[in-house]
Amino acid sequence: MQRKVTKAVFPVAGMGTRFLPATKSVPKEIMTLVDRPLIQYAIDEARAAGITEFIFVTSRGKGALEDYFDRAPDLEATLKAKGKTELLELVQATNMDSGAIAYVRQNQALGLGHAVWCARHLIGDEPFAVLLPDDVIAADKPCLAQMVDAYAETGGNMIAAMEVAPEMASSYGIMDVPPSIGRVLPMQGMVEKPAPGTQPSNLAAIGRYILSPDVMRHLGDIKPGVGGEIQLTDAIAREIAEKRNVYGYRFDGHRYDCGSKAGFLQATVAFGLARAELGPELERFLSDMMAQRQAAE
Ligand code: UTP
Repeated sequence: MQRKVTKAVFPVAGMGTRFLPATKSVPKEIMTLVDRPLIQYAIDEARAAGITEFIFVTSRGKGALEDYFDRAPDLEATLKAKGKTELLELVQATNMDSGAIAYVRQNQALGLGHAVWCARHLIGDEPFAVLLPDDVIAADKPCLAQMVDAYAETGGNMIAAMEVAPEMASSYGIMDVPPSIGRVLPMQGMVEKPAPGTQPSNLAAIGRYILSPDVMRHLGDIKPGVGGEIQLTDAIAREIAEKRNVYGYRFDGHRYDCGSKAGFLQATVAFGLARAELGPELERFLSDMMAQRQAAE
């Protein structure tokens, strides 16, 4: 029996430079996909996987994120007085129980690995999940829940894996795995942003992880890697070398890279089309627009 994963780390201390000037005052994680902030999708996915303790690694200027999860007594009272029950329920569903969320500060953006390491005292000696809210995953069964089920069989460490085009491999952490069509892929190594043509496979790690406390310990030891940052990939590579207990997990679902403008726009269209009250109108608009563009060519 594996130990249950009940804690999740959400690294949200990055500067979000790709969305400047918006991110000058609005944390990227609060930007809305249709009508919900990015972070809400990650929280819902974590909850669906059995997570009960939520640890945010934040930085200066992320106050709006903390307020978002707090109660909003004035707003709730107004909605109640006006009889807007549905909206009231919607707002109340975003409130997190007192003590369920903890915030730790990363006071210098030294990389994703460093951000995760900032949560070490709250994680202690337990397995934990890491969710990057930039990666939004549309799936029938939420991605982390799929991974938790697989992890119950394997233990060790598990990382969401996605096929990428060879020319994109140098933008990701790439897994060294034997050729396989299975979902669970024992990893022989992992390399962060490999030079073009040197990638060990086309399977990229994306922002969902289940990690052991050993990986947290490695994070405290390793030196800065690619880009001068403390890389989570390097700590995972060390764990593979020492124990061979790291698995890629080819999840079922579609991942949108909402850390990039193109990915965010694609996700907005896809999630808009999937909504019953918006989909038909949006679809008409998109097809009219495409027809106009084609006519103009
Ligand atoms: P990104 O590489 O997307 O960086 O980080 P970023 O700062 O968010 O965005 P850009 O590239 O400047 O537009 C991936 C994830 O790791 C977190 C980010 O908040 C994001 O969730 N991160 C990154 C940290 O928490 N701390 C860091 O030092 C670096």
